[in-house]
Amino acid sequence: MYLLLLVVCCAVFEGYASNVPLIQPCLLGDSECLIKTNTRNALSRIGNGLPEFGIESLEPMQLRNITMGAYGFTLVFREMNIAGASKCNVEDIKLNFVHSTMAVTIECPLEATGSFKMSGSICFFDVNHVGNYIVKTDSIRTTVNSRIDTVYGADGNTYWNLSLLGYSYEPLENLHIGLGRLFVGEVTRASPLHNVVSNNWWPLVSQVAEPAVSTAINRFHDVLKTFFLRVPLAHLAK
Ligand SMILES: *[C@@H]1O[C@H](CO)[C@@H](O)[C@H](O)[C@H]1NC(C)=O
Ligand SMILES: *[C@@H]1O[C@H](CO)[C@@H](O)[C@H](O)[C@H]1NC(C)=O
Repeated sequence: MYLLLLVVCCAVFEGYASNVPLIQPCLLGDSECLIKTNTRNALSRIGNGLPEFGIESLEPMQLRNITMGAYGFTLVFREMNIAGASKCNVEDIKLNFVHSTMAVTIECPLEATGSFKMSGSICFFDVNHVGNYIVKTDSIRTTVNSRIDTVYGADGNTYWNLSLLGYSYEPLENLHIGLGRLFVGEVTRASPLHNVVSNNWWPLVSQVAEPAVSTAINRFHDVLKTFFLRVPLAHLAK
């Protein structure tokens, strides 16, 4: 932690930073501002990959054999193609030098498609169904929290090694869900999904979606980690 403070000795602390998501010119020597701006610039292209750092495109993202289960049924997604990464906006990057953490908030459209197999029972009806699905929203906001460890490369440069601490996400626009002939609908706060347990639509959907979301967020975090392990901190801070 002190090493981190030392490396970014001229940092301006949180609170001075503006929330306006515009790229602001940094004052000379304002390492925090420079790191954030350079990171934001790189991340804004990350959906298409950063070949100069050996980072492949996140679009389309392909996941395999995702199993989800809730309330007595299981859904198996043999393949899941997720589009939207190239249209992500970096909303905010927060650096906390005291706790050695970073929080990156991105806002993206999302479209997940593929085929699914559902088995189990819903409301006492046995369901065995195979079909194509689509889950789509114009905007979903995701915040990924990482711990920062400062490491030295063989080249003598200082790098940041990130570890995933946690994440949160919420749709900002309606979620369109189509599960073959089983279910087609818009999920909104006003008209929730048929609800088995509570009146709270988002926890239900997010619980069912969790395995896919955590896999996708781990992919994104791997890219973030690779980026910081390939770009010396000194380059980011100027
Ligand atoms: C997905 O699961 C199927 C059936 O269990 C298996 O045949 C296939 O190899 C799995 N694919 C991957 C990529 O794990
Ligand atoms: C990054 O941290 C992980 C543990 O969180 C460690 O296993 C790995 O070796 C570190 N990578 C580098 C390049 O230091």
